[in-house]
Amino acid sequence: MKGMHSILAAFALLAFACSLASAFDTSPLHDFCVAINNTEDGVFVNGNFCKDPRLTVADDFFYSGLNKPGNTSNLVGSNVTAVNVDQIPGLNTLDISMVRIDYAPYGGLNPPHTHPRGTEILVVVEGTLYVGFVTSNPENRLFTKVLYPGDVFVFPIGLIHFQFNIGETKSVAFAGLSSQNAGAITIADSVFGSNPTINPNVLTKAFQLDKTAVTYLQSRFGSG
Ligand SMILES: *[C@@H]1O[C@H](CO)[C@@H](O)[C@H](O)[C@H]1NC(C)=O
Ligand SMILES: *[C@@H]1O[C@H](CO)[C@@H](O)[C@H](O)[C@H]1NC(C)=O
Ligand SMILES: *[C@@H]1O[C@H](CO)[C@@H](O)[C@H](O)[C@H]1NC(C)=O
Repeated sequence: MKGMHSILAAFALLAFACSLASAFDTSPLHDFCVAINNTEDGVFVNGNFCKDPRLTVADDFFYSGLNKPGNTSNLVGSNVTAVNVDQIPGLNTLDISMVRIDYAPYGGLNPPHTHPRGTEILVVVEGTLYVGFVTSNPENRLFTKVLYPGDVFVFPIGLIHFQFNIGETKSVAFAGLSSQNAGAITIADSVFGSNPTINPNVLTKAFQLDKTAVTYLQSRFGSG
């Protein structure tokens, strides 16, 4: 009987543990979080420590300036103004942030990139954007849409996506992201502009390119 009880208890414990199990890792909030046993070596809780609530003020939840356009005079013709936990410390641990994106007329591009930690929901307030994302292997299916002011589109977490201004005027969009800092991996910058550079033989084979094309791309995207 005693043995029966402990078996039942074990099952109850197992059921409890399973109910706690999740089909999704909680967001790491950083690129990596190396495990240590000695907490004196430094511990970051959800990316940042928490301020004493008694010292918290309204400005901890405030940002001003998203009415100002970003400067799009750059090679891609777009500019992302981020408002995440770095700008609003009160966002710490709240799983949400936002951006303003400006696009130059005739082809301003927010180039293919992913957000490793957040899904994005974007609303166009000005101009015309051709947007899209690609699903993961093996389908690599492309979803696209042309968006006009008032249109909303979603880019699921982790998937490569882009926005391209196909209009003759500048374009402006705002987006919410499901992380206090969703991160951004711009594909060309990561692959061809890494520091130090990836061995060109790796990229030559991976992208089925001439080695000269690879070294050219590395010279374009490398930070030197
Ligand atoms: C932490 O402690 C465990 C148990 O003693 C040990 O197996 C593990 O290797 C330690 N990890 C690190 C990073 O020191
Ligand atoms: C984006 O715009 C801001 C404000 O004009 C500017 O300081 C910044 O350099 C721009 N960033 C890029 C990548 O062009
Ligand atoms: C935008 O950036 C370009 C290139 O850096 C610069 O020449 C120009 O003055 C900037 N425009 C504004 C409005 O700040």
